[in-house]
Amino acid sequence: MAKNPLKITDTILRDAHQSQAATRMRLEDMLPACELLDNMGYWSLECWGGATFDACMRFLKEDPWERLRTLRKAMPKTKLQMLLRGQNILGYKHYADDVVEEFCKKSIENGINVVRIFDALNDPRNMAAAMKYTKEYGGICEAAISYTVSPVHNEDYFVKLAVQLQEMGADVICIKDMANLLLPYDAYSLVKKLKENLDVPIHLHTHNTTGTGDMTNLMAATAGVDIVDCALSPLANGTSQPATESLVATLKGTERDTGLDLEKLSEAATHFRKVANKLKADGILDPKVLSVDTNTLLYQVPGGMLSNLISQLKQANAEDKYYEVLAEVPRVRKDFGYPPLVTPTSQIVGSQAVLNVVAGERYKMFPKESKGLLRGEYGALPAPVNEEVRKKAIGDEQVITCRPADLLEPELEKYREEIKDHMEQEEDILSYALFPQVAMKFFEAREQAKNPQVKEAAPVNEAGERVLYVEDLSK
Ligand code: CO
Repeated sequence: MAKNPLKITDTILRDAHQSQAATRMRLEDMLPACELLDNMGYWSLECWGGATFDACMRFLKEDPWERLRTLRKAMPKTKLQMLLRGQNILGYKHYADDVVEEFCKKSIENGINVVRIFDALNDPRNMAAAMKYTKEYGGICEAAISYTVSPVHNEDYFVKLAVQLQEMGADVICIKDMANLLLPYDAYSLVKKLKENLDVPIHLHTHNTTGTGDMTNLMAATAGVDIVDCALSPLANGTSQPATESLVATLKGTERDTGLDLEKLSEAATHFRKVANKLKADGILDPKVLSVDTNTLLYQVPGGMLSNLISQLKQANAEDKYYEVLAEVPRVRKDFGYPPLVTPTSQIVGSQAVLNVVAGERYKMFPKESKGLLRGEYGALPAPVNEEVRKKAIGDEQVITCRPADLLEPELEKYREEIKDHMEQEEDILSYALFPQVAMKFFEAREQAKNPQVKEAAPVNEAGERVLYVEDLSK
């Protein structure tokens, strides 16, 4: 056993297929490997949250809660981990505290051990309720700092934020480098500083989009990071995490030896290679996601955002304006107070930059989301905004300076009332609260499946389709 083994979280059941295969891995593709994974000796297995919840109901016709319970039973020994977007839970708007509480409670009750909590703006007030309830219901609270690069996002900023999150009760601090912007030597330096200033373990999450992920993990390991995220090789690299096996082999025999067995990893990889090949054959996994994209290093714009900009420009018939828009992105970001570029702020800044260029005049128009961001609806921005731009966007309207969720009344009972005829488990209220239309379709299909004779009587909509979505169930 090494002196100070590096612990590994494998993301094969969540971020790996979310990043490479549109979150389409099915429960049936996971179960055959669960026993192997459970015996591997990982610190945790990330398997839930993020986009999996929506994708389960929307595309796979799976109940996300049932998936979690099944995974829990199949992997009784290993800590199961999920990703939660603070006050947004798994959605894109702020929810009232009673919904956040119930979601944390039910996630933990159904099998989650580690809840990784982040906020797009790094506003701790948007993370406070999720952190508090995670701890209250017995979960391990892993608070994440969303890593980005800007004149205000320096090492001191991240250390201060991490100390604050530790004071708020974080059991683990995560450096969440969603765009693979954290360069290897910066990772070394940041991890060193965090280790000097914190008592809790440090967990690094990066991707391999820009091709630096393995080096970043190695430098972080050298600097003493406690846990890193990797993905088994069949769904590793590119937009996903660096491969588990490569890091395990690299550290073998060193003082950071992970203790994981390469042969067992290879056995699990054999299973997931079949899954990956199936996803490729179905056209869900596009090999494009595997190539290294160094534009992100040049423009410090996440890979996903670059492809969004291209498709927005295509729609506006202005593909020739790509480099003008790329130059406009940092200017808009500065005017908007340097938000990290992650969902949803990457879309907000990107759309505004496209509008500014395509309209031929800066800030001629503001989408509603730009106004919301400048009005403080998403929380506090990291730096002061350009007041002239804000005035143009929202006039003399008042800016929200309190925690945005303080303006929300409790809403759980309202959701319960709305779905009471479809409810089969308490958790259904949460599925509905987060994704009302998707969940309702899912509930209806579920009822339908139990009662096949109703199929014939199912009403037909204007397009001539059965509205109870029976057919989708077979897919
Ligand atoms: Co990620």
